[in-house]
Amino acid sequence: MDSILVRGNGPLSGEIPIAGAKNACLTLMPATLLTDEPLTLSNAPRLSDIQTMTQLLASLGAEVAALQDGLVLAMSSHRIDNHTADYDIVRKMRASILVLGPMLARDGHAVVSLPGGCAIGARPVDLHLRALEAMGADLDLRDGYVHARAPGGRLKGAVVDFPFVSVGATENALMAATLAKGTTVLKNAAREPEIVDLAQCLRKMGAQIEGEGTAEITVQGVDRLRGATHPVVADRIELGTYMLVPAITGGEVECLGGRIDLVAAFAEKLDEAGISVTETDRGLKVARKSGRIGAVNVVTQPFPGFPTDLQAQMMALLCTADGVSVLEETIFENRFMHAPELMRMGAKIDVHGGHATVSGVEKLKGARVMATDLRASVSLILAALAAEGETLVSRVYHLDRGYERVEEKLRACGAQIERVKGE
Ligand code: EPZ
Repeated sequence: MDSILVRGNGPLSGEIPIAGAKNACLTLMPATLLTDEPLTLSNAPRLSDIQTMTQLLASLGAEVAALQDGLVLAMSSHRIDNHTADYDIVRKMRASILVLGPMLARDGHAVVSLPGGCAIGARPVDLHLRALEAMGADLDLRDGYVHARAPGGRLKGAVVDFPFVSVGATENALMAATLAKGTTVLKNAAREPEIVDLAQCLRKMGAQIEGEGTAEITVQGVDRLRGATHPVVADRIELGTYMLVPAITGGEVECLGGRIDLVAAFAEKLDEAGISVTETDRGLKVARKSGRIGAVNVVTQPFPGFPTDLQAQMMALLCTADGVSVLEETIFENRFMHAPELMRMGAKIDVHGGHATVSGVEKLKGARVMATDLRASVSLILAALAAEGETLVSRVYHLDRGYERVEEKLRACGAQIERVKGE
C-alpha cells in the first residue's frame, strides 16, 4: 500500500485546476442504462471510483470507453445482458447501488447486492428501496441481494416523501421516475449540485423534470430516453479542500473552475475564520486576511448547508486556530476518525458522540499517521502541509478514490510532497 510523505514548507501559492465532481459522475454514469443510445460525459474526473463504476457497468453489458486520458467517458448500453450487480464490485463502492433504479426502470427487473457499510457509518439503503416500492416495485431481500421486479415490466409514478434527506435515494428515485408511467413527486429531496447536474443531463436525454435543486422534484415519466452529451459539474468537495491550502499554510491559491455557488456555506465559514474568498474570471482566489485563523463552530447539514464531506478538512484547519471550535457532524454516525490521527500531530481534540471540540495550538508537528477514509486522508495531508517537519500518511488508496493527481496539484503550489511506493 502506498504512502504519501509531506514536509511542511511554509506558505503555499499558485493555481489548482478543479476536476469534475466524483459524486456527480458516479450518478451520471448509471444513467446510460436508461437508454440504448450513446451517453457521453466530458470533464470526467480520473479516479479509482470512476474505474470501479466503469467495471460495474461493463459487467452489466454497457460499453464505457475512457477517451482523452479519461476526461471523456463515451458510454452506451444497447441492451443490458446481465441484470445482476455483483457483491464483489458493489462492496468496493456504495454508489454501485445507483444502478438499481435505472435497470429497474429500463427493463423491469434488477438484482443488486446490498452495498454493506463503510468506515463512516452503517449507511443503509432503506430509503432507496422504499422509494422504488412506492413506484410499484416488488422487492425481495435475500442472500445479501435486492431482487427487484416491476409488475408488468414498468414502474408507475408516485408521491415519494423522504423522512430525511438522502442524496443517493433521491438520485435512484429520480432516474427511475424518468421512465415510469405517470407523474412522480419527490418530497424532501436532496438539493445537492450533483442532483441538479443529474437532472440537467436527464433533461437533455428527454426526461421531463422540474424543481431540481429544491426540496420537491416533479417528473413526468416518458416511454424512452435518447442519448446526450453532458459536462460533469465541478467538484465542490475538491474545490473546498484546495481552498484550505492557503488557509492552513498562508499564501494565496486560485482554484481554477471553482464556482462560489457550489461552496457558499463553506466560504462563509472561511470568511468568519479570517480567510478571504474572491471570485475571479477563472475561479476562486483564496488567501488569509491577516495573522492567525480564528476559531469557528461548524454544523454539517445537507446542501445548501456546510457539507459533511468538508468536515474533516475544516477540522484540520481549526487545529491551529486561535481559540476553541466545536464541529457537529449530523449526517454520519462515525465521521471523526481523522481526530485521533490529527492528535498524533499534536492537535487537541475532544470527541463526544457527534461533537468534536478542537482547542487550537500554535503549530502541529509531523508524525506517521493513517488514512481511514477518503476525506479523512486529505485532511491529514492538509495538516501535514502546515506542520513542522515530516508526516507520512499511510493507506492512501483512500485518497486516490476521490482526488486526482493530488501530489502534482499541491507541488505546483510549492508543497514538498511525494508518493512512497508501498509493499
Ligand atoms: C452521498 O452519499 C455522497 N456519496 C457522500 O460522499 C456524501 O457524504 C453524502 O451523499 C452526504 O452528502 C456519493 O454521492 C457517491 P445519503 P449517500 O444517502 O448518498 C443515511 C464522499 O466522501 N441513509 O445522503 O450514501 C446515511 O447512512 C462520500 O464523497 C439511510 O439511513 O448519502 C447517512 O447517515 C462520503 N438510509 C445519511 O442518511 C438510506 O437509504 C445521508 O446519506 C440512505 C441514507
